[in-house]
Amino acid sequence: MNIAIVGAGYVGLPTGLALAYLGNDIVFIDVDSEKIELLKKGKIPFYEPYLNEMLNLTKDNVKFTTDYKSGLKNISIVFICVGTPADENWKPNLTNIKAVAEMIGEYRTKKLEYVVNKSTVPIGFGKMLHNLINKDHTSKHIKGKNYITVVSNPEFLREGSALYDTFYPDRIVVGSDEINGIEAVSQLYSPIVNQNFTPPSFLQRPNGLSAVPIVTTDLCSAELIKYAANAFLAMKISFINEIANLCEKVGGDINEVAKGIGLDSRIGRKFLNAGIGWGGSCFGKDTSALIEMAKEYGLKLHMIEAARIVNYNQRTIIIEKLKTQIGNLANKSIGILGLSFKPNTDDLRDAPAIDIINKLLSEGAYVKVHDPVSLQKFLSMTNKSNIYGNTDVYKVIEGCDAVFVLTEWDIYKELDWQMVKRLMRGNVVIDGRNALNRELLIKSGFIYIGVGR
Ligand code: UDX
Repeated sequence: MNIAIVGAGYVGLPTGLALAYLGNDIVFIDVDSEKIELLKKGKIPFYEPYLNEMLNLTKDNVKFTTDYKSGLKNISIVFICVGTPADENWKPNLTNIKAVAEMIGEYRTKKLEYVVNKSTVPIGFGKMLHNLINKDHTSKHIKGKNYITVVSNPEFLREGSALYDTFYPDRIVVGSDEINGIEAVSQLYSPIVNQNFTPPSFLQRPNGLSAVPIVTTDLCSAELIKYAANAFLAMKISFINEIANLCEKVGGDINEVAKGIGLDSRIGRKFLNAGIGWGGSCFGKDTSALIEMAKEYGLKLHMIEAARIVNYNQRTIIIEKLKTQIGNLANKSIGILGLSFKPNTDDLRDAPAIDIINKLLSEGAYVKVHDPVSLQKFLSMTNKSNIYGNTDVYKVIEGCDAVFVLTEWDIYKELDWQMVKRLMRGNVVIDGRNALNRELLIKSGFIYIGVGR
């Protein structure tokens, strides 16, 4: 199948490269010429495990271009994978995706039959997309261009394991109001649904996985599934954080509580890790978008609003905990280990570390930062004085009154704590992800502060 992927980002690249691996010919179209040039040279423009290896494996059946006209030649399916960041009113900004629809409408050929949307869009947008792309049609098959069927195929991949999630998803959702759209996209995914492809050596199939469920539904339901899934996961994290805050008051250990409730198969242990809460490009944006969309229908989404309040409070509570240990923060040196919103990505969007650093700076602290992949990106974004960064984690720790671990990268779990103790001026370690060995730290003479423990 000849497929175009519009948007070579965190969603488009894993999707397109996986489809290439499964035997399709892929053209990536992206307006960012710098990105396209890098990709043509075989370089991935951001950090995501195994994309380099996958590009290397599939290079003979992938192409990259900034030009829609040549890109859409011979293409029968287009996937839209462009960003829909929140605008100033917390609604998804649709400028990019509308421009993409116009370009597809303009340059589509007779061969093009399906446009599959993977971008997260307001519920009902699929219908608008259909009208934008087909706008010069009063009837099917005219002017040498095809009538286009629109399909929604929301992505559920997690950054840091995007390719793994593409090959081995929990489910695939395909929504369209036209049955041929559902059939064509289901067919495309059949190697994943039936798990009958040979796995790449670096991404082995999980034990026991023999098939992936596929949910076929209407356009609107598919769009809502995406928002509802993210809102539920966000609520689950905020729920455990709220219980963690209670644990601290009553003297419980949130890890024990999470285990105890997570073993109930109706609840499940995943996404019950307490800490400084969620960040990233999806949960914050999608929960606020859902709240705003519901408002347009006169509905208030109480639970999702509460989840947001709990989440963003975690970023303040952790600083209050530090202050109970070392008092006023003015002129104190505070180390921040971990900037990305989670491990295995360089993504800093809505990263808790950024809010926490800004709060520390506003209270007069001197902030020293480290991250194994996003340090340079962070430093190039900030113009603040009073921030020092170094790629050597021990140089960052040296002289600190307190150290926060804000992203659970493995290197922080494996630190030489005896050395850390010698290098630090103080002895407070705040584990914002409950990722460290508490007993070891206490034994090594640190004041250990976790979340809900
Ligand atoms: C999320 C969804 O998981 C994915 O399905 C969707 O397509 C995009 O949004 P992502 O943002 O990449 O993926 O990261 P995810 O692994 O879900 O983590 C989101 C945030 O929640 C991270 O900051 C993570 O640290 C935090 N988190 C996650 C917790 O605080 N506790 C948990 O138990 C799980």
